[in-house]
Amino acid sequence: MSPPGGQSPASTPLLRVEHLTMRFGGLTAVDDVSFEAADRQITAIIGPNGAGKTTVFNCLTGFYKPTVGRLTLEHPDRGRHLLERMEGYQIPQHAGVARTFQNIRLFGAMSVLENLVVAQHNALMRASGYTFTGLLGGRGYRRAEREAVELARYWLDLVRLTDRADEPAGSLPYGGQRRLEIARAMCTRPVLLCLDEPAAGLNPRESAELRDLLLHIRDRERVGLLLIEHDMTVVMSISDHIVVLDYGRKIADGEPREIRDDPNVIRAYLGEEEDEALPPEVVADRQSARQPGC
Ligand SMILES: Nc1ncnc2c1ncn2[C@@H]1O[C@H](COP(=O)(O)OP(=O)(O)OP(=O)(O)O)[C@@H](O)[C@H]1O
Ligand SMILES: [Mg+2]
Repeated sequence: MSPPGGQSPASTPLLRVEHLTMRFGGLTAVDDVSFEAADRQITAIIGPNGAGKTTVFNCLTGFYKPTVGRLTLEHPDRGRHLLERMEGYQIPQHAGVARTFQNIRLFGAMSVLENLVVAQHNALMRASGYTFTGLLGGRGYRRAEREAVELARYWLDLVRLTDRADEPAGSLPYGGQRRLEIARAMCTRPVLLCLDEPAAGLNPRESAELRDLLLHIRDRERVGLLLIEHDMTVVMSISDHIVVLDYGRKIADGEPREIRDDPNVIRAYLGEEEDEALPPEVVADRQSARQPGC
């Protein structure tokens, strides 16, 4: 099934992060981090708890203004945007960056369908011409409304929530809420989707389904993904490129195979004294077993 709406051609890199630094008083949460994320690829950001991963997302999505750094999003359909100069509310709308949160943030009392339609508020308001009469009677608005419901239904289907469309989002089981969050972000028609620990709390079957969903978003929706994830099975199986942070600094950047064997990465996860004793596959297993942070 093809998504309603157009698609964009490839462009590389989609996101360029240059010298990103974020300080909170005396604490440097992100320290001079640079990396690139390509269009239509999955770039994972991994690292131990407190490494600065969510802070990077918060800088990209306008929750924080970076202390230092340039964050460039460039896409043929959306043009070039310097995210660090934009207000948070402009970033999804103009630059096409959408995100999910480490702790789920849905409108719990609204229905599952409403969550997906509300996500398209900006497109609907544009169609109304930002006027009351446009909202009430405009043909453009009615068409936009139909398209919004169509897109919502497309995503409901993909995340297997069609039969729960009318139920409050808060009543869904945890895995369903996680999928709905991703669907909601996709209903904003992003070019870059940032997911903060989407596999946290999922069982192995749900985790495998999540992998398929993310690959669908990359390959069929043709969207670039930034993925923060502690589950190394997910990270190693679907990422095209991995960036590793530790204490706010980038310590490695490369393909999954390179990262798995990188001594700095092993040291960061296991501590100095253990790094020479354990093979990389044990490191990956141990990391999978770690409790995700909150
Ligand atoms: N608003 C804030 N004010 C002060 N310190 C903060 C703030 N946000 C994050 N930090 C600190 O910045 C550091 C990095 O936090 P961050 O949440 O980015 O880590 P993380 O890599 O996402 O960790 P986890 O895997 O546990 O989610 C931590 O020491 C955290 O306490
Ligand atoms: Mg985090």
